Amino acid sequence: MTTKATKTRLVGRIKFDNEVLRKDLEVLAGLPIIKEQYDEFSSGTWINHSLWNRSGEWKDTQYTDFDHPAVKTQIGEATAYLSQIIEDTFDVQHMRMARVRNLVEGQVIPHIDFLELSEKKDGYVRILIPLETCLDSYHTEENFGVFRMRKGDIWILESTVPHGAHNLGSDNRCILSLDFQYTDEENPHYSRIFKNKAIHDETVRPALVARTPLEPEDLEDYLNMLAIQFKDVYEAEQVLVKLSEMQLRYESPVSDIYKNLVAVAKITKKDELIAHCEKMQKFYIGSRVLNERFPLRKGLIEA
Ligand SMILES: [Fe+2]
Repeated sequence: MTTKATKTRLVGRIKFDNEVLRKDLEVLAGLPIIKEQYDEFSSGTWINHSLWNRSGEWKDTQYTDFDHPAVKTQIGEATAYLSQIIEDTFDVQHMRMARVRNLVEGQVIPHIDFLELSEKKDGYVRILIPLETCLDSYHTEENFGVFRMRKGDIWILESTVPHGAHNLGSDNRCILSLDFQYTDEENPHYSRIFKNKAIHDETVRPALVARTPLEPEDLEDYLNMLAIQFKDVYEAEQVLVKLSEMQLRYESPVSDIYKNLVAVAKITKKDELIAHCEKMQKFYIGSRVLNERFPLRKGLIEA
């Protein structure tokens, strides 16, 4: 398996006190779910809870640029152990958001982040730390391939290249996601995120997933098969979900999911489907402006 150098890397591991962590996870599990029906970045169940954010209001889920440290929300107060870990381990002065995201029987649709934000992309660092995770959950990244984030792993995810996430199972996959912003600094080093430098350890081995080569004729057969079932623009989501699950097992970069999606649309020879899939490719991994939405499913942006 070839892994090119990329900014995605495993930078340490937190050893949780499992009993205390369990209590915070119970708090999170007992919270009402904020409806995610207008979210075109996920398919299946994806629950987000804000622990620290711009306003301190837990219902505020938008990520935008701002220049002050994140404020603890009501949920951040109620999950005291997690907030303590964040404060002891990381540079909260430059932290802009702390969220816990639970993905169950679903996927984070392959995308590039921050397309709509500032030019200074190097100034953004996002880290992901699994809090509870089943064995059939994965992350994908254009250059890094497919991997599992193990509980306590501290991952930096290069989010300016195509990436996605999957949980094929019905068990929880809860991840603490922290966003840092160093846009006022020239070439900030990612190690700046650590307050406790002892936690920074790049000898921790990542759990990479081995894949099988994808034979061009097998791919062609499969794309033809998907085209037969593809009749309506709202079915594009299902085609995309299948193409990205296939990519977990076969060697192919994340961006090929959209290439394949457009190829399926072209096989149908339906202009409406081709235009829709090309727009989809542009929206998720091409260019997107702030607050731009994508009509992935019926009624998604009519509200
Ligand atoms: Fe992302």
